[in-house]
Amino acid sequence: MLLAGALALSWLVLPPVLAQLSLPEPPYTPPDASLGTEASNDSTPNTQWSNLLGNLLYFYDEQRSGKLPSNKRVSWRNDSALDDGSDVNLDLSGGYYDAGDYVKYTFPLSFSLMSICWGALDAGQGYELANQTAYLDDMLRWGLDWMIKAHPSANTLYVQVGDGNLDNAYWGGDRDIPGPRPSYQINDTSPGTDAAAQASAAFAACSALYSNRTLSTSTSTTALGNSSYASTLQSHARALYNFATNATGGMQTYQTAVPQSGDAYASSAYSDELAIAALFLALTETSNATAYYADAVKWYYSDNLGSQLKAGDETVFNWDAKTPGIAVLGAQLASSYPDVVSGSNATLSVWQSAVEGYFGAIVNDSGRSHLTDGGLLLFPGDSDEASLNPALNVAMLMMRYALANLTTTQSVQDQYTAFAQGQLNYALGKNPMSVPYVVGTHPNSPANPHSAISTGYAPTGANASLSAPDDLDTTPAQEAYVLYGGLVGGPDAQDRFWDLRSDWVQNEVALDYSAPLLTLAAQALVRGVGDPYYTQVKAGAYDAVRPGGTPCDAAIKTGCSTKGGLSKGGKIAIAVVVTVVGLIIIGLGAYWIWRAQGNGRY
Ligand SMILES: *[C@@H]1O[C@H](CO)[C@@H](O)[C@H](O)[C@H]1NC(C)=O
Ligand SMILES: *[C@@H]1O[C@H](CO)[C@@H](O)[C@H](O)[C@H]1NC(C)=O
Ligand SMILES: *[C@@H]1O[C@H](CO)[C@@H](O)[C@H](O)[C@H]1NC(C)=O
Ligand SMILES: *[C@@H]1O[C@H](CO)[C@@H](O)[C@H](O)[C@H]1NC(C)=O
Ligand SMILES: *[C@@H]1O[C@H](CO)[C@@H](O)[C@H](O)[C@H]1NC(C)=O
Ligand SMILES: *[C@@H]1O[C@H](CO)[C@@H](O)[C@H](O)[C@H]1NC(C)=O
Ligand SMILES: *[C@@H]1O[C@H](CO)[C@@H](O)[C@H](O)[C@H]1NC(C)=O
Ligand SMILES: *[C@@H]1O[C@H](CO)[C@@H](O)[C@H](O)[C@H]1NC(C)=O
Ligand SMILES: *[C@@H]1O[C@H](CO)[C@@H](O)[C@H](O)[C@H]1NC(C)=O
Ligand SMILES: *[C@@H]1O[C@H](CO)[C@@H](O)[C@H](O)[C@H]1NC(C)=O
Ligand SMILES: *[C@@H]1O[C@H](CO)[C@@H](O)[C@H](O)[C@H]1NC(C)=O
Ligand SMILES: *[C@@H]1O[C@H](CO)[C@@H](O)[C@H](O)[C@H]1NC(C)=O
Repeated sequence: MLLAGALALSWLVLPPVLAQLSLPEPPYTPPDASLGTEASNDSTPNTQWSNLLGNLLYFYDEQRSGKLPSNKRVSWRNDSALDDGSDVNLDLSGGYYDAGDYVKYTFPLSFSLMSICWGALDAGQGYELANQTAYLDDMLRWGLDWMIKAHPSANTLYVQVGDGNLDNAYWGGDRDIPGPRPSYQINDTSPGTDAAAQASAAFAACSALYSNRTLSTSTSTTALGNSSYASTLQSHARALYNFATNATGGMQTYQTAVPQSGDAYASSAYSDELAIAALFLALTETSNATAYYADAVKWYYSDNLGSQLKAGDETVFNWDAKTPGIAVLGAQLASSYPDVVSGSNATLSVWQSAVEGYFGAIVNDSGRSHLTDGGLLLFPGDSDEASLNPALNVAMLMMRYALANLTTTQSVQDQYTAFAQGQLNYALGKNPMSVPYVVGTHPNSPANPHSAISTGYAPTGANASLSAPDDLDTTPAQEAYVLYGGLVGGPDAQDRFWDLRSDWVQNEVALDYSAPLLTLAAQALVRGVGDPYYTQVKAGAYDAVRPGGTPCDAAIKTGCSTKGGLSKGGKIAIAVVVTVVGLIIIGLGAYWIWRAQGNGRY
């Protein structure tokens, strides 16, 4: 207890620090979307990839909460939610709004930060080539400094600030965000094993980045190196891992302690977060790496996580599910730090066979995932909302594994690179809609992201702070601000995309949606490949193929009765539905009750 108290005190006296690297002057700001149709004139570094990376980071500036710096880049954003934490006598202002709304959620935030730091660990050179390292530093610190505030003592972590239901009712700008905005915590007696472990993983991965650790490649960036920041992050990582593993209340998923977070981000298990946290701790801890590695292996086997990588049961990599990332990171560690792994039965070849079984099922279409007719990788169920997210997370992991030369044969390496590039191309415009799904990068980019902050809707009247327009899609006719760099959810299983503001399934933006694309863009810069696909996409091509009718998804049901040709994917999905119809009915029942209560990822 005494030790925990001393640690807590040393965290609290740290002053908030903005970017250590000086930001470019004049600042990088996204070019007009019309530039997206033009081929680059140079090859290294590629202008278009550099701009894409810049825009993707700019999105996180647009999502900032709290007091904005005097040199803010997004002129239309204002200070907001400055009183966050006042209900618990803490300063919990700052950090990022999660998605199209104004709630702050620690679980998906920490997944996104972990993912971005990991990407910078092995493709950091891409940020340097694009002159974006200072913005990366700034972006990471805006999130990590908030997470430090959200972890005020060893066994307390705030996992949510803001009321999801209240927030769903509000559709205005950042000056009238309604309150109260309650702060929800996990603690020693009401723990959240997964949320604590995921936060630990984010701190550990970013600590490794700030301490210049390398991971199987020679392309990491060292410009961020800062040993005092790295050690602050490391002490949070350690403490949160101890909290996750040794809380008096035992081990449980965090929504047991904080049901409010379960409305939007219920976690299905915690052993995957424990394993990935222990692996990143093994990377960042130089003296105790072997013990953390052994812990990771213990979690991996004790919950049989390997079964989630087998063809037919292969899982996704996302804010909830970490297993594919565990195996890839395990392989990277085993190849980069053989001494850390030497006493364990989880050798490089064990990870390689797990990873290649998983990727092989995807690439060879022999598992439960499949491609749409237009070529997007879908996982039935997981891809029903935000279809691009599972595909881009696989592409990111696959490209990383291939670039690190971890494949057992050259042919497999070539297949992975081609497959990952195909998914990236799809997201960037090589799809039946001719839509690059990143807002503001091309004339065909989505114009209607589901994002309260960008619409410019100004509610008036007695209950202004609790009103949404009757028709989100037409009020106002055009969104007031271009939400540059936001990746939207993505098309349906027939590759159709309607670009409707009300359709949060297809059009919402989120911190975790853009995260894998940052790493894929950084990798593209390191690889020195030609322009992103969208330079080949004709402006206006989307207007010619924009689907009629309306979607059929969890946000909009009016399209559900219309007949349409089913793709192979649709037919498989129906077969699955028929087989497990009982389960689905039970699931939908619960889902409708949940929706009727006003929940959902708005
Ligand atoms: C390193 O980070 C610390 C903590 O954020 C900060 O106070 C310091 O200025 C940074 N050092 C350098 C050299 O930028
Ligand atoms: C390539 O150069 C032309 C002529 O200077 C310019 O108009 C165009 O914007 C450049 N392309 C890019 C992607 O910067
Ligand atoms: C990065 O900055 C250097 C030096 O100012 C400049 O020569 C280069 O063109 C910049 N690269 C990009 C992609 O902006
Ligand atoms: C920020 O404040 C300005 C007025 O100063 C307003 O025009 C703008 O819409 C606000 N931004 C948002 C996102 O609400
Ligand atoms: C611990 O967390 C639970 C769940 O959020 C909360 O109800 C309880 O008040 C917290 N305990 C303390 C001492 O703050
Ligand atoms: C992977 O192999 C290629 C070709 O031999 C080499 O150029 C590259 O540097 C290697 N990358 C790593 C991370 O070892
Ligand atoms: C990281 O590497 C850079 C460049 O070599 C160096 O200047 C910096 O001191 C290093 N930082 C740490 C924390 O090792
Ligand atoms: C803390 O957790 C670790 C990992 O599960 C376990 O080995 C250890 O026995 C625990 N310590 C205590 C005091 O419960
Ligand atoms: C070493 O790692 C283990 C995790 O396996 C942890 O329980 C222990 O506290 C760590 N020791 C130190 C000195 O950090
Ligand atoms: C490694 O050891 C664990 C625990 O003893 C066991 O479950 C697992 O099957 C072993 N793995 C291999 C590849 O031998
Ligand atoms: C796909 O299957 C073929 C035939 O079994 C095999 O040769 C190939 O390596 C597999 N591809 C991948 C990426 O696993
Ligand atoms: C404002 O909201 C309150 C409470 O929901 C309701 O009773 C009242 O009728 C509303 N007023 C207007 C003008 O809509």
